Amino acid sequence: MPDASAAADWNVRSRQWVKTAPEGASTNDTPNQELIAYAGIKAGDHVLDLASGTGEPAISIAVAVGDEGSVTATDATEPMLRAAAKRAANMGLENISFRLCPMEDIDFEEGRFDAVTCRFGMMHAGDSLAGLKHARRVLKPGGRAAIMVHGPADMNTAWTTVYTVAPEFFRIDRGANIERHYRFSEDGAAAAVFTEAGFRNVEQKLTTGEVRHPADKAFWRGSLERGFSKEMAGLDAAECDELDARLRDAFAGYIVGGEYVLASTSRLARGTK
Ligand SMILES: C[S@@+](CC[C@H](N)C(=O)[O-])C[C@H]1O[C@@H](n2cnc3c(N)ncnc32)[C@H](O)[C@@H]1O
Repeated sequence: MPDASAAADWNVRSRQWVKTAPEGASTNDTPNQELIAYAGIKAGDHVLDLASGTGEPAISIAVAVGDEGSVTATDATEPMLRAAAKRAANMGLENISFRLCPMEDIDFEEGRFDAVTCRFGMMHAGDSLAGLKHARRVLKPGGRAAIMVHGPADMNTAWTTVYTVAPEFFRIDRGANIERHYRFSEDGAAAAVFTEAGFRNVEQKLTTGEVRHPADKAFWRGSLERGFSKEMAGLDAAECDELDARLRDAFAGYIVGGEYVLASTSRLARGTK
């Protein structure tokens, strides 16, 4: 069953996601290309993307599969999909369609797609196992599903630091969000749900990387706005400065040669029907 309170939360959070979405092509395509390669997507494929948000990786998949292929972008949150559709229109993409639908309720016919993808969405579903069972059902025999989720908390410096400092500052409990965010980060957790959903040839891997930001940039503001929209809206200028100062302190130890250098790790899992 889709989770109604999480859905309401995503409706609120979507305002900030929509505001910061690219106008057209992805501004950081590396994770999309990793997922496309892991899913084995090629020109001419018909792909279903779950929890597409504002169009990652669906827009990049539309480019990768070309005119003979197609991508169906789905999400549970309407404003997210509207933003994705606007990006696609700006790019003149005609091989992408959109369907407002939680992954737990996917109702496409059996065997329709060559591949199914999901980037940073599986952990947000109330019933991710149901989502993956649908993914398997709508795949052609031999088709592949691949997901990208977050790696361990201590290997994702930016998110973990913001979600430690900001809840303390706002005196709110975000424990459940943190738990959900890292739900599949443990070794084997994502692969286990693929196996339970009936996939064969289940595999997973960790991709470790880093993100860099200039040391004079308050790079955490985007995460604050996306994750704490309501609380941020209630702050005056002095309180904003105080929160910035706390985050600057928390990130100070990561400055190397004039840049913040932060660990960023994803886990990929895949399986075949
Ligand atoms: C962290 S965002 C990721 C969006 C996009 N895939 C990306 O990587 O930028 C998570 C997305 O999951 C969507 N979502 C939450 N619960 C969902 C569900 N049960 N089924 C489908 N989408 C869901 C949200 O609306 C949101 O767009």
